[in-house]
Amino acid sequence: MKKRVLVTGGTGFIGSALCAELSRAGYEPIVLSRRAAGGGFAGVRLLHWDAHSAEGWCGELDGAFALINLAGENIGSGRWTARKKTAIRRSRLEAGQAVAAAFAAVKKRPRVLVQASAIGWYGDRGDEVLDEGSRPGSGYLSSIGREWEGSTEVVDALDVRRVVLRTGVVLGRGGVLSRAAIPFRLFAGGVPGSGRPWVSWIHIEDVVRAIRFLLEREDARGAYNLTAPGAVRSAEFYRAIGRALRRPVWAPVPGLLLKAVFGEMARELMLSGQRVLPKRLLEAGFEFKHERLEEAMGDIFGGW
Ligand SMILES: NC(=O)c1ccc[n+]([C@@H]2O[C@H](COP(=O)([O-])OP(=O)(O)OC[C@H]3O[C@@H](n4cnc5c(N)ncnc54)[C@H](OP(=O)(O)O)[C@@H]3O)[C@@H](O)[C@H]2O)c1
Repeated sequence: MKKRVLVTGGTGFIGSALCAELSRAGYEPIVLSRRAAGGGFAGVRLLHWDAHSAEGWCGELDGAFALINLAGENIGSGRWTARKKTAIRRSRLEAGQAVAAAFAAVKKRPRVLVQASAIGWYGDRGDEVLDEGSRPGSGYLSSIGREWEGSTEVVDALDVRRVVLRTGVVLGRGGVLSRAAIPFRLFAGGVPGSGRPWVSWIHIEDVVRAIRFLLEREDARGAYNLTAPGAVRSAEFYRAIGRALRRPVWAPVPGLLLKAVFGEMARELMLSGQRVLPKRLLEAGFEFKHERLEEAMGDIFGGW
């Protein structure tokens, strides 16, 4: 019988790629979505949930192999209004709490819970090299990250192997890169601010491979950084987009202008960064398929 894996937020950029891979690998992925139940995509079944309670879907969790909790209001799209910030925080806490409640409620509990988080947990840290042993930072995204990781912590006491994914900037056909590429496609791309903050990126293919690796490794538990080993400064990151798209990269876009247009989101996402190492993944023997930014961009933009 196929091993059932429930995936919240499985309709999203990472989740849909992950479910396709799980399905190819012989698992039975079931996506928990706020959309109507019934449909699905590429061998993946959709199951309705309200994203804040354990009601109505617990039966599928009973006897399942794992749950992967990716759900959350998108952080990189739209201005961070007070309403958007409430949705970013609440969607993550409530989804995490619902997942934890469901783990507590079922008789035959899954052995593994994979909990999404992000490198924003480390805050803005200049040139400091960060690994999983580093302390958390400060700022809005860091505080969200700490609460988000904490939302499912109670399952640690239930003999469940919990893996936390501190994921970097995921590069693929969609997500952050599709938005960052728009000005370059219009011949208007530039480096935001000083170009000095670090960008810790990872190819979507390696995100999916790493999640499967951690799902299957019996001794994996706790936080793992999902970033390629070669973080770059943001100037190099944006120049690589320009090169991959064969577009010019203009003079830096002033930070003050970005803050005026994008508000707090510019400060937290575009003008700050972290230099993160995937120490625990490398120690566990994970092999990245895309280690160099230039190659990863070429792979993504080639024929796009
Ligand atoms: N992409 C990245 O670069 C990146 C980097 C670090 C961390 N992450 C994190 O990894 C997770 C998956 O990322 P992604 O890029 O795949 O995100 P995504 O494309 O925005 O998908 C997230 C999914 O979460 C659900 N969702 C959206 N808004 C929600 C809300 N208000 N309440 C409850 N559920 C909601 C949606 O599923 P339904 O509409 O089907 O319910 C959506 O498909 C996210 O939590 C994200 O913060 C992503």
